[in-house]
Amino acid sequence: MSPAALGVTFDDTVLEQTVRSELGAVEDLLHRSVRSDDEFVAGAASYLIDAGGKRFRPMLTVLASHFGDSSRPEIAAAAVVCEITHLATLYHDDVMDEAAVRRGSPSANARWDNTVAILTGDFLFSRASNILADLGPWAVRLQARTFERLVIGQISETRGPGATQDPIQHYLGVLADKTGSLIATAAEFGAHFAGVAEPVVESLRVFGERIGVAFQISDDILDIASESAESGKTPGTDLREGVATLPVLYALRSPSADAARLGVLVAKPIVDDAELAEALRLLRGSAAIDEARATLRSYADEARATLADLPEVPARAALEALTEIVIARTG
Ligand code: IPE
Ligand code: IPE
Ligand code: MG
Ligand code: MG
Repeated sequence: MSPAALGVTFDDTVLEQTVRSELGAVEDLLHRSVRSDDEFVAGAASYLIDAGGKRFRPMLTVLASHFGDSSRPEIAAAAVVCEITHLATLYHDDVMDEAAVRRGSPSANARWDNTVAILTGDFLFSRASNILADLGPWAVRLQARTFERLVIGQISETRGPGATQDPIQHYLGVLADKTGSLIATAAEFGAHFAGVAEPVVESLRVFGERIGVAFQISDDILDIASESAESGKTPGTDLREGVATLPVLYALRSPSADAARLGVLVAKPIVDDAELAEALRLLRGSAAIDEARATLRSYADEARATLADLPEVPARAALEALTEIVIARTG
């Protein structure tokens, strides 16, 4: 795995080489961390690791560590904790979202069944906890609080906004919890274990939270705007699950006839292929996609602004480049 997997190239070639080799070590540890004497469990647990993935969270852990001493051994361990936690949530999320494709391969629930996918996710959480134990109580507690937010985000998305709640505020809160939380922690772990000064750790945590929300908005735009080959997932999965993401929420605010028709289509989970195609067509042609892109840009810009006061190490420019990648992902 390399920065190129995310489409990032760093201006500083020394940093790029170092990060590449540090991510190589993370990758080795990731594979070693999910081994089991039980061949079936080992196969199910490494299945999605082998299928691909961008390793966005380990990249943030490693880049944040470059504000301090990136050679400390806890950094790779913390990066692996974040990637394994993320991975476990993907096994579970694909059950919840009834998703058939993940990382360009059949999802675990499609390849085996829901029970195997859920229990493999649980197995991965146990392995993340095992590594965390060696990182000490501070790390265990941070991970526990992060995971609490992530789960609350997933539950809140499933329940939808309350009757008096603004759906867009609800949506943005869900994103901060389900996605921003772990990406923030990935950055915080890297900075903390590199011995970085507390105010810089805090800025990197805030950076992670903001870029995490931007990243999830881009994921939600791609669910509507992309083809499966690009995303490694099935477009329209959110609509099939009845989850109204930002482009949908923006589109519904419009007074047009298209918006009225869309409102009818998305009022419940879409099961009919023709209705899904119609909803995707209405959304792809709407101004709402561009509005969602503008919101994505504003979160990425806020993330970038968080970096302004940080020491001017090469990793800062790399994180700035990462914000551009997140903006550019949706085309
Ligand atoms: C997918 O995350 C779920 C989100 C939180 C957006 P990624 O886009 O990081 O998935 P992988 O790890 O590259 O497959
Ligand atoms: C995934 O959210 C977020 C977590 C797993 C916490 P989504 O359901 O939006 O992500 P994808 O599109 O399936 O990757
Ligand atoms: Mg999903
Ligand atoms: Mg989901």
